[in-house]
Amino acid sequence: MPTNSFRLAVMPGDGIGVEVMDAALAVLDAAERRHGLATKREAAPGGALLYKETGNALPEASFKTAQAADAILFGAMGWPDIRYPDGTEIAPQLDLRFRLNLYAGVRPIRAIPGVPTALADPRARDIDLVILRESTEGLFASRDKGTIENDRVARDTMVITREVTERLSRFAFRLARRRAKKRGRPGAVTLVDKSNVFRSFAFMRKVYYEVAPEFPDVKASHHYIDAMALDLVRRPWDFDVLPTENMFGDIISDLGAGLIGGMGFAPSADAGDEHALFQPSHGTAPDIAGKGIANPTAMILSTAMMLDWLGDRSGSQACSDAATEIEAAVDRIFAEKQVQSFDIGGRSGTTDIAKAVIASLGKKG
Ligand code: NAI
Ligand code: MG
Repeated sequence: MPTNSFRLAVMPGDGIGVEVMDAALAVLDAAERRHGLATKREAAPGGALLYKETGNALPEASFKTAQAADAILFGAMGWPDIRYPDGTEIAPQLDLRFRLNLYAGVRPIRAIPGVPTALADPRARDIDLVILRESTEGLFASRDKGTIENDRVARDTMVITREVTERLSRFAFRLARRRAKKRGRPGAVTLVDKSNVFRSFAFMRKVYYEVAPEFPDVKASHHYIDAMALDLVRRPWDFDVLPTENMFGDIISDLGAGLIGGMGFAPSADAGDEHALFQPSHGTAPDIAGKGIANPTAMILSTAMMLDWLGDRSGSQACSDAATEIEAAVDRIFAEKQVQSFDIGGRSGTTDIAKAVIASLGKKG
């Protein structure tokens, strides 16, 4: 019998991270009751405000809690005015990615029915792709290691390794295979790089194509990052899984979120082979924090991704069912215009949306 009980580390963080986490946990409570699931939740404090109070943004005890958990739920951390002495921001999410080896940043960009898309073309309704941002190396390998010489020259160096590229490629092909089953059409992986200019990217592409033949059922192709910026606006509905380097992935994830209604609709997972962390793609939104108007959809969909991941790993059908049900409930409340969040010009607050999702769980149609 697969287990239906899981240990979760809960890291709300700062700003609207706390607000959207409350909303998502309420939805999780309801989904657990419906599916006979039980999560044991442990708070793992961290963030910019904690740094301001204690001088430590991610206490070792919180890291240990996250490391020991079956999955990590994360709101958002950081605050523009709270910075380290070198001028960079507090970003424990980056530390967690590096320390827990969460190399695969999974960012689904899916048009939710009823949510206005940025593109007028009716095919924008069919946008359903996943940006797979490598999250432990690339340009971010230089984090904390960049140099500044005599106030005249600054350098940050990109790193691409065979090991991580192989893992990322396999992750991409497996994901495409899984999506193909769900969507009833063949999977397609498109590596996004800049191999026309940089050796690191030419190497990345070479390793990617060495892995591709292991997955003959999935179409493998590639695209330059600049052309992809164009095509994500021109024909995003044509893409499926897009693995890419860390910095490129950072940028096109926000572009992708912009296509489907904004950051409030963009969930994500940071997955490795042992651990996984689930968080909305957005930050702490200081401009709207404390007003109760943050859109919790991205956090709620991230929670569904967590249940899907736990279900896949543990064999718990109840987890997988709960994930599907939450996603369907989100689609329904927006499609039927039961709610309209503030970020798309509506008046539904954070708790209104959570309540509507809960009321819609398991409803048909
Ligand atoms: P942000 O994502 O917090 O906000 C960008 C814009 O989107 C703002 O206008 C905000 O109001 C809006 N927005 C974001 N999420 C929303 C939601 N759920 N509902 C409605 N509107 C939403 O990005 P920004 O302003 O660049 O960063 C703010 C802080 O968050 C910074 O300190 C930054 O370092 C941190 N941050 C943390 C992240 C994380 O914890 N993973 C990711 C990105 C930023
Ligand atoms: Mg970003």
